[in-house]
Amino acid sequence: MPLDKYTDCNRKKCFLSMLFITAVFIIAFGWYGNKSIRSHYESLLRCSQKPSIATEDISTRDPLTVVAIGRMLYDKPQTFKPPRSDVLMVTPWLAPIIWNGSYNIDILNAQFHQRNVRVGITVFAIKKYTVFIKTFIETAEQFFMVGHKVNYYVFTDRANEISNFTLSEGRQLVILDVPSYKQWQEVSMRRMEMIRDYAYQRFYKEVDYLVCVDVDMRFNDFVGVEILSDVFGTLHPGFHNAQRGAFTYERRQQSTAYIPRDEGDFYYAGGYFGGTVEEVYKLTNFCHNAMMTDKNNSIEAVWHDESYLNKYFLYHKPTKILSPEYLWVNSMGVPQFLKRRRFLAVPKNHSAIRNKRALQKNPGYQKVEILKLL
Ligand SMILES: *[C@@H]1O[C@H](CO)[C@@H](O)[C@H](O)[C@H]1NC(C)=O
Ligand SMILES: *[C@@H]1O[C@H](CO)[C@@H](O)[C@H](O)[C@H]1NC(C)=O
Ligand SMILES: *[C@@H]1O[C@H](CO)[C@@H](O)[C@H](O)[C@H]1NC(C)=O
Ligand SMILES: *[C@@H]1O[C@H](CO)[C@@H](O)[C@H](O)[C@H]1NC(C)=O
Repeated sequence: MPLDKYTDCNRKKCFLSMLFITAVFIIAFGWYGNKSIRSHYESLLRCSQKPSIATEDISTRDPLTVVAIGRMLYDKPQTFKPPRSDVLMVTPWLAPIIWNGSYNIDILNAQFHQRNVRVGITVFAIKKYTVFIKTFIETAEQFFMVGHKVNYYVFTDRANEISNFTLSEGRQLVILDVPSYKQWQEVSMRRMEMIRDYAYQRFYKEVDYLVCVDVDMRFNDFVGVEILSDVFGTLHPGFHNAQRGAFTYERRQQSTAYIPRDEGDFYYAGGYFGGTVEEVYKLTNFCHNAMMTDKNNSIEAVWHDESYLNKYFLYHKPTKILSPEYLWVNSMGVPQFLKRRRFLAVPKNHSAIRNKRALQKNPGYQKVEILKLL
């Protein structure tokens, strides 16, 4: 009923008819509600009496058997009090940007445990990069998806150099033997192809989500299910507040990674993306094909896999974005907005590891280089 008509109503008539309607409602609801609650319980009972099917996958995914989250006590969200006002917490396409304080991990953990979610994390330990594995896995055991099921997928050409680790329950290490490439650019770019191929052949059977990161890193604080979403990217720490013009997107029109100067949302880091296996397949497939097309045309995007990733995210926007808390370099200091540094670049001994961006010859670029090592 439109509001203006309502005010015209004769008060007494109005009151009596409202009384009547309310009475009818109470009677009807009482009768129906009782019945529907009972049948709801009956259906729950039927579900729980269902012979449990051997495969965990089916029974835990059946929406009928999902039990409601238990009682939890926490502060009520405040409509006019955003938890943070110093940072952007949502993009114009309504993807959340994840900062400390913007979420309640207890609620999220309960939701993801209920779905019995399994997370795969991929890293590439090619050639001498095997030296980073130990720190990576040891810190991940401490901070990454604690309490959830995790598969570490280590792509390497030196499986014998990966030592045994004692992992917590529900976590396992899977070593994937892959070829090495001569140039670091090729090693970096081929990651897209390898993730794509394994996603298609294997990962979809073993995990729900994939998190694809660089190995020359260490976890320094908790990284949990708050990062999971259909497809997510991470703000590159070196460009988190940069103008479009300053982004190091590919600017040559001949490249498939080309982005015009008047487009672009953020500059995403090549060393941290993920999502469901299906979405990661789409992303890596796009990037690999775009690289191959460029290769045929004898052009390679300026920042290799990262340039193609940025092109993909411009037109297939991520459903969640990780703030620089999730990817930081200590040489950049600790600004006020950064409440946690969860995942940090491990300083490299360049002469021992052979800097993959080998730019020592050009000291002017050294600073950008360090950021790019991500
Ligand atoms: C991070 O956020 C939590 C709330 O989720 C808050 O209790 C804590 O103080 C924050 N940490 C910092 C360093 O601001
Ligand atoms: C790792 O541990 C397993 C079981 O304890 C053992 O069979 C295997 O040989 C070990 N591998 C290495 C490289 O030490
Ligand atoms: C690259 O060129 C080769 C040979 O001409 C062709 O077979 C292949 O399909 C091309 N690949 C792409 C991605 O354009
Ligand atoms: C870096 O590696 C080189 C070559 O292995 C070695 O000589 C040098 O001592 C190392 N430097 C540091 C700081 O570890």
